[in-house]
Amino acid sequence: MSGYRHQVVIVCCALVLGMAGIAAPGQAEESLCLDCHDDSAMHAVAGTMHGSIGGGGNGACTSCHGPSVEHENDPDETHPDVSFGPQWPSDPEVRSASCSTCHDNGEQLLWAGSEHQQENMSCDSCHDAHQQQDLVLGKQESDKICMDCHAQVRSELHLPSRHPIAEGKTACTDCHNPHGGMGHAALREVTVNDNCFSCHADKRGPFLWEHPPAAEDCGLCHKPHGSVNEPLLTARGPALCQQCHATAFHPSQPYGSEGLPNGSANPNMLGKNCLNCHSQIHGSNHPSGARLTR
Ligand code: HEC
Ligand code: HEC
Ligand code: HEC
Ligand code: HEC
Ligand code: HEC
Ligand code: HEC
Ligand code: HEC
Ligand code: HEC
Ligand code: HEC
Ligand code: HEC
Repeated sequence: MSGYRHQVVIVCCALVLGMAGIAAPGQAEESLCLDCHDDSAMHAVAGTMHGSIGGGGNGACTSCHGPSVEHENDPDETHPDVSFGPQWPSDPEVRSASCSTCHDNGEQLLWAGSEHQQENMSCDSCHDAHQQQDLVLGKQESDKICMDCHAQVRSELHLPSRHPIAEGKTACTDCHNPHGGMGHAALREVTVNDNCFSCHADKRGPFLWEHPPAAEDCGLCHKPHGSVNEPLLTARGPALCQQCHATAFHPSQPYGSEGLPNGSANPNMLGKNCLNCHSQIHGSNHPSGARLTR
C-alpha cells in the first residue's frame, strides 16, 4: 500500500511540476486527498490557474475544500469541510466563502449583497473549477449560461429590435457584472446612462440644448435587451413622446410655418412622427436647436 502511495505521490509531483511549473511541495507524506481521488478529473485541477495554490497538489485541494481531516480518516461517513456536491453539498455561503478567501476584491468585491448571492447562488453555480476550460469565462458560452436561468431575457432577444447579443457583438457581461454592481441591476456602471455611454459615447453630450429625459435615464425611452419597436423603443411614434408631452399643442392646434424645416405647414405632416421635426431627440448643439429640431 505504501509503495502504491509513493508512486501516486511521484505522479502527482510530476503533474504539479509539469503542468503548473512550480517546485514540488515538501509535504509529500501528507498527500492524502490525491491518494484516493486520483482520477483524471482531479488531476485536471493541476492544469488550471488553481494548480499551484496552497503549494500545489493536496495543498490545492485543501485550499478550496478545507483541511477535511475527518473525511480523510473516514471518507465513507464524513464529508470534506467544504463540498460542492454532488453527495454532501455545503451551504451556498460556505461554498462561496471558500472562493472568497482569495477572490474578495476586483470584480468580486460586491458579491455579498448581490442579487445572485441573495438568491442562494454560489460561485460554482456558474464556475467550473476543476476544468481547464471554465466555460463561463468565454462570452458566447456565458451568455448561454445566463439565459438558462433568464428565460425572459432570452425571449426579449428574439424581438424584432434587439441589442446584437445573439449575433455576438455584445454580451450580457458587457453591461452586467454577474458578481454584483454598485447600482441598479448589477450594471457595470453605477447609472444606466454611464453604462450606455461606454459604447454610445456620442449620446453623452454635453449638449447646448439637452433633452432632460435623455440626460436622466436612457431607459425612459429604450429597452436594453429587445423591443417590438425599432430602435429598442419602449413605445412607438407619437405615443412615446405623448407619455410626457400630453399637452403637446401642435398635433391638434394649427400654427404658422415659422421654424418648420421646409417652411410648410401641411397639417398632414403634423400627424406624423414627432421625429420628422424633432430629430435631435438626444440633445442638440445647434445654436437654434432649443426645440431639438436641428
Ligand atoms: C481514504 C480515501 C479518501 C481520502 C484520503 C480523501 N477522500 Fe474525499 N472522498 C472519498 C470517498 C470514498 C468519497 C465519496 C464519494 C466518492 O466515491 O468519490 C469522497 C468524496 C469527496 C468529495 C465529494 C463530496 C460530495 O459532496 O460529493 C470531495 C469534495 C472530497 N472527497 C474531497 C477530498 C479532499 C479535499 C481530500 C483531502 C483533504 C479528500 N477528499 C481525501 C475518499 C477519500
Ligand atoms: C479552486 C477550488 C478547487 C480546488 C483547487 C479543488 N477543487 Fe474539488 N471541487 C471544487 C468545486 C467548485 C467542485 C464542484 C464541481 C466543479 O465546479 O467543478 C469540486 C468538486 C470536487 C469533487 C466532486 C466531484 C464529483 O463530480 O464527484 C471532488 C471529489 C473534489 N472536488 C476533489 C478535489 C481534489 C482531490 C482536489 C485536489 C486535487 C480538488 N478537488 C481541488 C473546487 C476545487
Ligand atoms: C487559495 C486562493 C484561491 C482560492 C481558494 C480560489 N482561487 Fe480562484 N484563483 C486564485 C489565483 C491565484 C488565480 C490566478 C490569478 C488570478 O486570476 O487572480 C485564480 C483564478 C481564478 C479564476 C480565473 C481563471 C482564468 O482562467 O482566468 C477564476 C474564474 C477563479 N479563480 C474562480 C475561483 C472559484 C470559483 C473558487 C472557489 C471554488 C476559487 N477561485 C478559489 C486563487 C484562489
Ligand atoms: C452568475 C454567474 C456567476 C457567478 C455566480 C459567479 N461568477 Fe465569476 N464570473 C462569471 C463570468 C461570466 C465571468 C467572466 C466575465 C467577467 O469577467 O465578468 C466571471 C469571472 C470570474 C473571475 C475572473 C475574472 C476576474 O475577476 O479576475 C473570477 C476570479 C471569478 N469570476 C470568481 C468568482 C467567485 C469567487 C464567485 C463567487 C463569490 C463567482 N465568480 C460567482 C460568472 C459568475
Ligand atoms: C442558476 C440560475 C442563474 C444563472 C446561471 C444566472 N442568473 Fe442572474 N439571476 C438569477 C435569479 C434567480 C435572479 C433574481 C431574480 C431575477 O431577477 O430574475 C437573478 C438576477 C439577475 C439580475 C438582476 C440583478 C438585480 O440587481 O436586479 C441580473 C442583471 C442578472 N441576474 C444577470 C445574470 C447574468 C449576466 C448571468 C450570466 C453571467 C446570470 N444572471 C446567470 C439566476 C441566475
Ligand atoms: C446593452 C446592455 C445590456 C446587455 C447586453 C444586457 N443587459 Fe440586462 N439589463 C440592462 C439594463 C440597462 C437593465 C436595467 C433595466 C431597467 O432599468 O430596469 C438590465 C436588466 C436586466 C435584468 C433585470 C430584470 C430586467 O429584465 O429588467 C436581468 C435579469 C438582465 N438584465 C439579464 C441580462 C442577461 C441574461 C443578458 C444577456 C442575455 C443581458 N441582461 C444583457 C442592460 C443590458
Ligand atoms: C457593450 C457595448 C454596448 C453598450 C454598453 C450599449 N450598447 Fe447599444 N448597441 C451596441 C451595439 C454593438 C449596437 C448595434 C450597433 C450596430 O449594429 O451598428 C447597439 C445598438 C443600439 C441601439 C440601436 C438598435 C437598433 O435596432 O438599431 C440602441 C437604441 C441602443 N443600442 C441603445 C442602448 C442603450 C439605451 C444602452 C444602455 C442601456 C446601450 N445601448 C448600451 C452596443 C452597446
Ligand atoms: C425621449 C426618448 C429617448 C431617450 C430618453 C433616449 N432616446 Fe435614444 N432614441 C430615441 C428615439 C425616438 C430614437 C430613434 C431616432 C430616429 O429614428 O431617428 C433613438 C435612437 C437611438 C439610437 C440609435 C440611433 C442613433 O441615433 O444612434 C441609439 C444608439 C440611442 N438612441 C441611444 C440612446 C442612449 C444611449 C440614451 C441615453 C443617453 C438614449 N438613447 C435616450 C429616443 C430616446
Ligand atoms: C420621460 C418624459 C419625456 C419623454 C418620453 C419625452 N420628453 Fe421631450 N421633454 C421632456 C422634458 C421634461 C422636457 C423639458 C421641458 C421643459 O423644459 O419645459 C422635454 C423637452 C422637449 C422639447 C423641447 C421643448 C422645450 O420646451 O424646450 C421637445 C421638442 C421635446 N421634448 C420633444 C420630445 C419628443 C419628440 C419626444 C418623443 C420622441 C419626447 N420629447 C419624449 C420629457 C420627455
Ligand atoms: C411638422 C413639424 C413638427 C412636428 C411633426 C412636431 N413638432 Fe413639435 N414643434 C415643432 C416646432 C417648429 C416647434 C417650435 C415652435 C415654436 O418655437 O414656437 C415645436 C415645439 C414643440 C415643443 C415645445 C413646445 C413649447 O411649449 O415651446 C414640444 C414639447 C414639442 N414640439 C413636442 C412635439 C411632439 C410630442 C410631437 C409629436 C406628437 C411634435 N412636437 C411634432 C415642429 C413639429
